[in-house]
Amino acid sequence: MKTALITGITGQDGSFLAEFLLEKGYDVHGTIRRSSVDYRERIAHLEGHSNFHLHYADLADSMSILQVVKKVRPNEIYNLAAQSHVQVSFDSPEFTADVDATGVLRILEAVRQCDLTDTCRIYQASTSELYGKVEEVPQNEQTPFHPYSPYAVAKLYGYWIVKEYREAYRMFCCSGILFNHESERRGETFVTRKITLAAARIAQGKQDKLYLGNLSSLRDWGYAKDYVECMWLILQNDKPEDFVIATGEQHSVREFCQLAFHHVGIELRFEGEGENEKGIDVKTGNVLVEVSPDFYRPTDVVNLWGDPSKAKRELGWNPQKTTFEQLVQLMVDADMAKVAVERAGERVRMNLAEYLEKGIVK
Ligand code: GDD
Repeated sequence: MKTALITGITGQDGSFLAEFLLEKGYDVHGTIRRSSVDYRERIAHLEGHSNFHLHYADLADSMSILQVVKKVRPNEIYNLAAQSHVQVSFDSPEFTADVDATGVLRILEAVRQCDLTDTCRIYQASTSELYGKVEEVPQNEQTPFHPYSPYAVAKLYGYWIVKEYREAYRMFCCSGILFNHESERRGETFVTRKITLAAARIAQGKQDKLYLGNLSSLRDWGYAKDYVECMWLILQNDKPEDFVIATGEQHSVREFCQLAFHHVGIELRFEGEGENEKGIDVKTGNVLVEVSPDFYRPTDVVNLWGDPSKAKRELGWNPQKTTFEQLVQLMVDADMAKVAVERAGERVRMNLAEYLEKGIVK
């Protein structure tokens, strides 16, 4: 039986990956951070499984990482833990650097200190944000990086330190350069989930309007559940290499919005430009979507489009397993069901998430 250690197991990707590896017969260990707020919602259904184990550790604390690696002695480590919100990284750049950059080094060093360099393979969750102010469209493994946020700069260090340890110590460590990947488990302040939740709440009369930032931003959005399979395939490969993981298809935030509202039975027409652009309900004439500069970023990445040819060719991975339309539909369906049973307290929590993102509540 293989043993895997997942940092960030409570997140969207961590929870899907844990399910995937348990099904493959792995002994799955995950790291969680101490918190007075329960954030284990996504893995609650796995707790109690005989091959599922949780340990307290924090990427900002090298001793805790060393201890857990020493105890678990994993065959595979998936480093998915991060401060993953790009906009938040402008407010907390130092914390982001500590976790997303130095945190990667702490994992690599723990593996070395425990003499596991020959037996432990490491997957690093890298990101299309490395391309940032893009120098080429679409982006592949050869495209030059141009990070454009404190988050991306920190992740760039993670990418290079993985490459360095691979070459210096012959470690089997790889980066998956993942383009945006979403699901019904996506955090509520990322744009896709914010839209599907709002569409569901507006359709059910529980919200009046949705405020967004840059509607013209372009992304290559895939389904997170499909992407965790690729993380695993990267570590099963004969040689340690980095891969772009994307669908090869690009859409704007505006298009995502229109499709999500369409699935709840509302046709949106967009009018105006920049801050004055509005999404109007074609049937009633009501303004349902407005632009708020609160959601603009000091520097925004606006043209991400991945070329997954290498992963397709060398790993046999199917980038179009779930289409864009299916992704939006499954997220909307899940939020329609969630909102239907939503209680007042939950609404307060969701509003709080939005206030946090806007910086109204710190
Ligand atoms: N969050 C958010 N909220 N984004 C908005 C909004 C809004 O109200 N309105 C427009 N956007 C735009 C952002 O400016 C950005 O250009 C785009 O929507 C996507 O934003 P996010 O969903 O927050 O994701 P991201 O692309 O910044 O980062 C995600 O994907 C990366 C992979 O490319 C995160 O998951 C990162 O951790 C990940 O590395």
